[in-house]
Amino acid sequence: MMARVWAVVPAAGRGTRFGGDLPKQYLVVDGAPLIAHALTALFAHDAVEGAVVPVSENDPDWPGWTEFAGKAVQSCIGGATRAASVLAGLQALPGSVRADDFVLVHDAARPNLSLTDLSHLMERGRNDPVGAILAAPVRDTLKRAGDDGGIDATEPRERLWRAFTPQLFRRMQLTRALESALADGVEVTDEAMAMERLGLRPLLVEGSESNFKITTPADLARFAFELAQRSR
Ligand code: C5P
Repeated sequence: MMARVWAVVPAAGRGTRFGGDLPKQYLVVDGAPLIAHALTALFAHDAVEGAVVPVSENDPDWPGWTEFAGKAVQSCIGGATRAASVLAGLQALPGSVRADDFVLVHDAARPNLSLTDLSHLMERGRNDPVGAILAAPVRDTLKRAGDDGGIDATEPRERLWRAFTPQLFRRMQLTRALESALADGVEVTDEAMAMERLGLRPLLVEGSESNFKITTPADLARFAFELAQRSR
């Protein structure tokens, strides 16, 4: 039997690039906020035992769940950056999660994770000494822009990947890596980047493009569409 894992689901962003007052993790699609869709996707895997959700202080939108889909949910206060929020989440994990246990980190704003991708990540990541992330190869041609908006150069896309979540690392190693980045004032935009800074080499596990992060209103419409297709 597969060892159980906990997830950290950062939801402390106040980002409202949509223009409204509601942070994107609380935008409602098909009757449920994006954070609910993200938790549903994670909890679909039998080995996922529970989740810690870092939220912003006095968050009026956090539903206050202590349980979701029959699994444990705990919230904690997040930080000023995504990395600080994830670190707070790691520190709030229950004591039953040991230092060398693997932990999943998954964006609350990434509601369309499939069980197939999550299973691949868990299988491959847990056989890697460091851990692994879901990602997809870059398929478009990459241009470097000049100050005037003209093209300065075409960048080779070979071996370039786009990093998604979930990302799977060991509790203590990831805690140390994020602490080190914060102490050095380096803003890491995902967990793997913090690990890389320590000379570690996480594994890339190819995942589906449909595991996208909600950033624009068009992303929201796409998620609503994919959800409707799924239940047909
Ligand atoms: O803003 P971005 O798209 O990078 O956010 C990714 C995830 O990180 C979101 O779920 C957001 O709520 C979370 N986040 C956080 N704490 C912050 C900033 C972002 O938990 N300070």
